[in-house]
Amino acid sequence: MANTRFLSWPNLVGCAVLFAFLGSAPMLVSAQSVDEAVTFTKDIAPIFQQKCEACHRDGSMAPMSLVNFRETRPWARSIKAAVAAREMPPWHLDKTVGIQEFKNDRSLTDDQINTIVRWVDAGAPMGDPVDMPNPMTWPKGETWNFEELFGPPNLIVKSPAYKMAAKAQDVWYKPVVETGLTEARWVRAIEIRPSTPKGRRIMHHALARLQQEEPELEETATDPDDVGPGLFMEWAVGKQGEITRPDSGKLMLPGSKIVWDIHYHAVGEEITDSAELAIYFPPKGYEPKHRQVLHLMHGIEGGSRGLDIPPNTVSVHQGFFPLKKAGRVENFQPHMHLRGKAMSMEALLPTGERRMLSHVNDYQFDWHNNYVYADHVAPLLPKGTLLRITAWHDNTSANRDNPDPSQWVGWGDRTVDEMAHAWVNVTYMSDEDLESEIAQREASRLELTDEQQP
Ligand code: HEC
Repeated sequence: MANTRFLSWPNLVGCAVLFAFLGSAPMLVSAQSVDEAVTFTKDIAPIFQQKCEACHRDGSMAPMSLVNFRETRPWARSIKAAVAAREMPPWHLDKTVGIQEFKNDRSLTDDQINTIVRWVDAGAPMGDPVDMPNPMTWPKGETWNFEELFGPPNLIVKSPAYKMAAKAQDVWYKPVVETGLTEARWVRAIEIRPSTPKGRRIMHHALARLQQEEPELEETATDPDDVGPGLFMEWAVGKQGEITRPDSGKLMLPGSKIVWDIHYHAVGEEITDSAELAIYFPPKGYEPKHRQVLHLMHGIEGGSRGLDIPPNTVSVHQGFFPLKKAGRVENFQPHMHLRGKAMSMEALLPTGERRMLSHVNDYQFDWHNNYVYADHVAPLLPKGTLLRITAWHDNTSANRDNPDPSQWVGWGDRTVDEMAHAWVNVTYMSDEDLESEIAQREASRLELTDEQQP
């Protein structure tokens, strides 16, 4: 044990640093004291508050709480394994290509991983209680995530209750519910959640589609699956909700309906649950400048019928989504099933330039991560840009999640069938607005580099 501890590379780095300072003095004892300096209260708790507690606290989704030392200590070894392998926190993006700044980045930096590994290797000491940061305040189970920001939701649309048997095949429940709106309203944020904590166990994902009469929107749609105002929001394990940017919103019309698509699976206990959609309106009279639309972008040529995954192979499919108007691409959220391995989104510009926006190289079916671009990097793209979605499926035995590599797999709802699309929000704007957005961004970038000059 002690040997492996001395050989772990953060220790070698520690030694190297000390050697640099002290010449060639015998360093092993000092190296150990470097490790002992990493403590839970001083170094680990601040990281866990920021990157783990959202899920690892009482009443939230993860199996154990990591809020204090007593709760965390028994998990030290498994924490080291999970963070060193980048399995936790769930963030499956290739960090070597594409955009790397996100509004919701919950991944650990290399430094943070090193600190956690060194702490565990040093015997996971608690440290001085005085160093412990103040506890975080988290919303209670019954309140909505965005309540603190906007007050209680202005509208809640609930799906009819569904009773899932203890043992049954997966169910796709698609009720249609009136919103009851009598006037048009812009929307600034939405959240979906199961109605009860038990519901979380059976609800794999829930989609809420906005249905309203609006022929002129077909202008931006490119696919029969994607006509109309599109999806409102998609909820899946690990997701909190969506807030539109200050100058943009989604538009709901009077007489609109929510079409639910809820995927339930049996967990050995009969559970009755429904899904709730919470909608937050901006103050009346406020008109955002731009309209945001959530698109389903296929990673398959010719739509879902073109998905064809032979047994014992890794297959690649591609789909193209033309931007019929200029716009800002807000996020990337790949959707595949058990054989999904990787997905990328590239922009092919009218100039011929190709830009890699994002590549998820370690897709995990259990985690529908939504990668939301930070304001200053969300791609601003001209009319005529093609978004290319490329999807890789691993239908070999090398894929641990593959239920049967000898099966030929096609498109379908069941988890043993496949899908290959991305959910992408686009904020549409005029060509002039695009120009001025690009100019503004360039100006603030220059300002920033000016400030950084000594
Ligand atoms: C988005 C929610 C989320 C975040 C953020 C998150 N976890 Fe988890 N974690 C889970 C869930 C859910 C599980 C259980 C299912 C699984 O393993 O995927 C889990 C499992 C684990 C396990 C494995 C437990 C076991 O049974 O062996 C460890 C260890 C862990 N998390 C540590 C961490 C640490 C450390 C952080 C922060 C640096 C973190 N997690 C951040 C949701 C999260």
